[in-house]
Amino acid sequence: MILDKDNIYSDIEQIVSEIGTAKSAVIPILHAIQKKYNYLPEIALRRICDTTEITPASITGVSTFYTQFRHTPVGRHLIYMCNGTACHIKGSELVYDAFLRELRIKGNQDTDPEGLFTLQKVSCLGCCTIAPVVQIDDVTYGHVKTNSVSKILQDFISYQGKKVEQKTSEKKIY
Ligand code: FES
Repeated sequence: MILDKDNIYSDIEQIVSEIGTAKSAVIPILHAIQKKYNYLPEIALRRICDTTEITPASITGVSTFYTQFRHTPVGRHLIYMCNGTACHIKGSELVYDAFLRELRIKGNQDTDPEGLFTLQKVSCLGCCTIAPVVQIDDVTYGHVKTNSVSKILQDFISYQGKKVEQKTSEKKIY
């Protein structure tokens, strides 16, 4: 997502007008920003400090205390690696490591260098009978093995291409 300063300022204006400018509004405001961008862009946080009673120290304290707040952008697609009990027993950790290798995600990063995929561990995805399970956006893959990771990513990318083609042809019909 390309962030435009004017758009961000206008988003922040709207968020502040709905939630308020008091110091106590810091958590709902951060939630609203994260909901909008999937993370907390620095420029948005600075704008909050300029237009409300909320201080940089308060934002830093809250946003680093609660783990659900992100300070880095997410990839275009989210990969949810189930780490629930059934998936864990069937080797989800090894599959997770295979995704890290395949996507060249290093250190404590969770997003590939191209910004295409963000990899996250989640608890039970509700389809334990096909463990281990991986969900990429709205597509679910079951019985995932370490050596099928590359194929899954290719399949997902090709599925995305077909969705775009379908939309284009739908536009032609109407
Ligand atoms: S534990 Fe993975 S889907 Fe239930």
